[in-house]
Amino acid sequence: MKTVNILAVGDVCSRAGIDFLCANLPAFRRFKNVAFCVVNGENANGLGIMPSVADELMTHGADVVTLGNHTFALRQIAQYLDENRYILRPSNITPRAQGRGFGVFDSPFGDVCVVNLIGRVAMEPNESPKIELERVLKLPEVRECRFVFVDFHAEATSEKLALAHSVDGRVTAFWGTHTHVQTNDAQILPHGTGYITDVGMTGAIHSVIGMRVEASIERLFGDPTAKHEAADGPAKLEGALFEVDTETGQCVSAETVRLV
Ligand SMILES: [Fe+2]
Repeated sequence: MKTVNILAVGDVCSRAGIDFLCANLPAFRRFKNVAFCVVNGENANGLGIMPSVADELMTHGADVVTLGNHTFALRQIAQYLDENRYILRPSNITPRAQGRGFGVFDSPFGDVCVVNLIGRVAMEPNESPKIELERVLKLPEVRECRFVFVDFHAEATSEKLALAHSVDGRVTAFWGTHTHVQTNDAQILPHGTGYITDVGMTGAIHSVIGMRVEASIERLFGDPTAKHEAADGPAKLEGALFEVDTETGQCVSAETVRLV
């Protein structure tokens, strides 16, 4: 059996996360022989991502950058989403949105489809991620891909598990992003899909999901007008590593990753 390693990296938060990723991801890719890497970058500039930062992530090990609920927080990204097919925004937001929600990409082991979706539980109103994922999986160019990876940017653990089980065996790996807290449930679902509820965060270790602790305490428990501020200090990279059988397109192992 020939296998390859796929890495999903959790939400990159602000300069602390960007710098840590850029300093460590290239070497980690070599160390783990990672054949394909998807990085969620929707918080790379706090809320949203600038084109220059997306370029920075891609030149330091991200084959594809995925986004989420803050995709359009910085409007400079809109045109970039149309121009660069290696960055994806959720596929189930308004059809008039700039950019793409999925893509088919070359890889050393064959064509790979990456799909970015967003949840609806405790999130803004969006189209159904289930209907959109089924639509994408039926497209001829996607059906020809032996490897399909899904980044589901969602709040609720139940919504992530339910959507993943509904496509078990039909996608290679399915991971959650958005909560910035890594879950301890990396696993292979019964029909062969690699899964984790949330891959975690790439950013400051001592923070409240990437934000400065004191500012978050004030915002949440004191002055409601207080502003969140990006945290700095020692950082970490969190994600999940999926080992994939190149013959079957199924996952054979899934484990969490945390670099500090
Ligand atoms: Fe998010």
